[in-house]
Amino acid sequence: MSGQSPDPPAIDPPAFTSQGPYGWWSQVRPIPGWLSLTEAALLRLAGEVTAAVAADLLEIGAFHGQGAATLAFELAGDQQVWVVDPFGIPGGSRAVRDEQELWYRDLSRADFESSFGRVHERPAKVIEALSTDLAPEDLDGKPYRVIHVDGAHDYDSVCHDIDLSLAVLADGGIVVFDDIANTHSPGVAAAVWAAVDRGQLAPLMLTNKLQSCRPGDHQALRSRLLEALSSRGWNAGIERPLRIAGFDVIRDPRPPAEIDAVDHPVPDRRAGLRAWRGWVPPVALSTARRVRDRARTRGARNPNQAGG
Ligand SMILES: C[S@@+](CC[C@H](N)C(=O)[O-])C[C@H]1O[C@@H](n2cnc3c(N)ncnc32)[C@H](O)[C@@H]1O
Repeated sequence: MSGQSPDPPAIDPPAFTSQGPYGWWSQVRPIPGWLSLTEAALLRLAGEVTAAVAADLLEIGAFHGQGAATLAFELAGDQQVWVVDPFGIPGGSRAVRDEQELWYRDLSRADFESSFGRVHERPAKVIEALSTDLAPEDLDGKPYRVIHVDGAHDYDSVCHDIDLSLAVLADGGIVVFDDIANTHSPGVAAAVWAAVDRGQLAPLMLTNKLQSCRPGDHQALRSRLLEALSSRGWNAGIERPLRIAGFDVIRDPRPPAEIDAVDHPVPDRRAGLRAWRGWVPPVALSTARRVRDRARTRGARNPNQAGG
């Protein structure tokens, strides 16, 4: 989850052309969630640079399916996307229950399945559970080449998800952690950087998500990510080198202008002003008008001052 709003954005119409290399976003964007096109494109990149590994994809914490539907575009052959989510069934520690109650109270498995089904014909494999109740053998006993960890955000749950992910990560696979750099989810950062410090994980690429891998795969995967980014016209930020725990990390790759324009549309200044007028209490507005009118009168008396 990214951003501070407790409510996911309402389903809105696709604002991005369905043509072109990012056309798939027009299918994912209407699904409720917090994913930006930039983050979604980088998630797909994790799928692309691990394409040579014959293994499925996994998401811990699916919500309505934006991440899973994004990952599913990277499936080859009979590969599948798996998701783990309790879908509103209460459980877990106090911290987990509080998070569920605040953000995901009304979520149902049917919500996920119908959103996902609008984008992909082949359904995702669903494990309806808290990840913290699962052992590696509950995940179908096979390796995964990309694992998107976006479930509970408290420290203990994320520590569990790190161990679970490392137990089922394919050789040459990538683990992506969401909300690594948010003040509302410090447990994620604490757990993940501790695993980096212990030498369990190597950081590859940092945005509000961290893409990471086993230390032995770092060099090859970083090169592939850099190559894929530059072939698409992304600025990989290598002019601002970042080295953490002995690993070179790609920092905040900047997307080409057309992606940025989707994530940060230029605000309509007049619409902004209208919204501001609507928001300001009427009494403050009338005071502001009186001050403005007095200033105009003074300006009219002073020939050196332009009137407005
Ligand atoms: C931020 S949302 C996930 C967003 C989703 N990855 C996306 O891209 O739209 C977090 C989800 O994690 C689920 N969740 C919370 N605690 C969990 C846990 N311990 N294991 C698995 N899922 C969990 C919630 O039900 C919720 O659907």
